[in-house]
Amino acid sequence: MKNIVLIGPSGAGKTSIGKYISNILKIEHIDTDDLVKKQFNMSIEKIFYNYGEDCFRMEEANIVKKIADRDNLVISTGGGVVINKDNIRYLRKNGILFLLTGNIDTLTQNLMSSREQRPLIGCNNIYGNIHDKIKNIFLQRKDLYINSADYFINIDNRTIEEIGEEIIWIY
Ligand code: S3P
Repeated sequence: MKNIVLIGPSGAGKTSIGKYISNILKIEHIDTDDLVKKQFNMSIEKIFYNYGEDCFRMEEANIVKKIADRDNLVISTGGGVVINKDNIRYLRKNGILFLLTGNIDTLTQNLMSSREQRPLIGCNNIYGNIHDKIKNIFLQRKDLYINSADYFINIDNRTIEEIGEEIIWIY
């Protein structure tokens, strides 16, 4: 079976939904951010701080290239995976790409309750600041997300289970 690939902005729930689908379908879940963290043995925040974003992107691309050759996986990607056209080309080979997206308020609320720090969004937990940063990043990447996706999945006012089930149903 083809891979289920989850793309979308930070706060869309790619990791939690990926885990849910993997549990239900009993297939392996891979989170590209986790593999990058393992490779450097540090948090993403520290990788950005110590080595810079380009270095993170290079490792992310190496990992994508490696896992994209496999099949029967649920792959949760980082929000910036769409920046690199090769990433999308590789992920498409054996995968169906689901774009998880919702309004900026939903993404902001999800991120406010997340313990994981996002270096591009910053670490101050002020609602307005997070909201504006997410909005700016989303606007910059909007076309990349839309052009990369096979299916669009709305996350507003829905539980992880509801979203996961919709993806499984389409798959
Ligand atoms: C990023 C999103 C993060 C992580 C890194 C860069 C981005 O993943 O890959 O901080 O460029 O949007 P999440 O989408 O899981 O937050």
